[in-house]
This record gives sequence, structure tokens and C-alpha cells, in this order.
Amino acid sequence: MIKDELAGGADKAKMAGAAKTIAAVARAQVPMFPKGTGPGAGVKTDALPAIWTDRATFDGHARKLIAEADKLVAVTGAGNAGAIAAQFKAVGSTCGACHKQFRADD
Ligand code: HEC
Repeated sequence: MIKDELAGGADKAKMAGAAKTIAAVARAQVPMFPKGTGPGAGVKTDALPAIWTDRATFDGHARKLIAEADKLVAVTGAGNAGAIAAQFKAVGSTCGACHKQFRADD
């Protein structure tokens, strides 16, 4: 939806709301992978075992996403379309970086 806003006329309030949602979800995501809930526990999941064996790296990706999402909230508030587009990309690359390493089918 942030992409749509970038394509059309920017609705700052809507974009800031979407950015805040990303930041909130990023924070909520961290405790969703407690020890012992991976594939080894017989759970059907795309979460790779490396999350639990390389927790520090996984948490690092999560922290990076939270930081970039917070920055996105800040730039949407400022309303500069170029800066928003650049920061949106930065957020997206943190999603991809973690998925590539820790999520199956990617
Ligand atoms: C810290 C690592 C990490 C980051 C950062 C991350 N993800 Fe994920 N994501 C995962 C893992 C692991 C799974 C697989 C979860 C599972 O199958 O239990 C997943 C699954 C997903 C899924 C599939 C959900 C499903 O029900 O199959 C979507 C969609 C997704 N992520 C979107 C995103 C987006 C968008 C971002 C960035 C805003 C993001 N993720 C950032 C680790 C991450």
C-alpha cells in the first residue's frame, strides 16, 4: 500500500500509518520464534532451523528491520517522496535479507 501511495498522490497520514504498522509488526515478530518451536518440534513451518542455532544473527536482522521501519515512520512524517521511496526500499531489503537466510522457499 505504501507502493501505491508512492505511485499516486501521496497521502501522508495514510503512509505514516502504514509505516507505523510495519514498525509495530517488526517488534511483535521477534518473540514469535521461541526456542523449541522450529521444524525439529514437528511444526509445519517455513522457518529454517538456523533461526534457533544462529539466534544472534536472526535477532540482528529483526533489529535492523525495526530500525529501518522506524526511519520509514520518520520520513513519511516529513513527506519527501524521494526520501520515502528510498527508505521503503531499505525496509524491503531487510525483509529479503532475513528471508534469504532463515526462511524456506525463498
Ligand atoms: C528476522 C527475520 C525476518 C525479517 C526481518 C522478516 N521476516 Fe518475514 N518471515 C521470516 C520467517 C522465518 C518466516 C517463515 C515463518 C514460518 O513459516 O513460520 C517469514 C515469513 C513471512 C511471510 C509468509 C508468512 C506465511 O504465513 O507464510 C511473509 C508474507 C513475510 N514473512 C513478510 C515479511 C515482510 C514484508 C518483511 C519486512 C517488512 C519481513 N517478512 C521481514 C523472517 C523474517
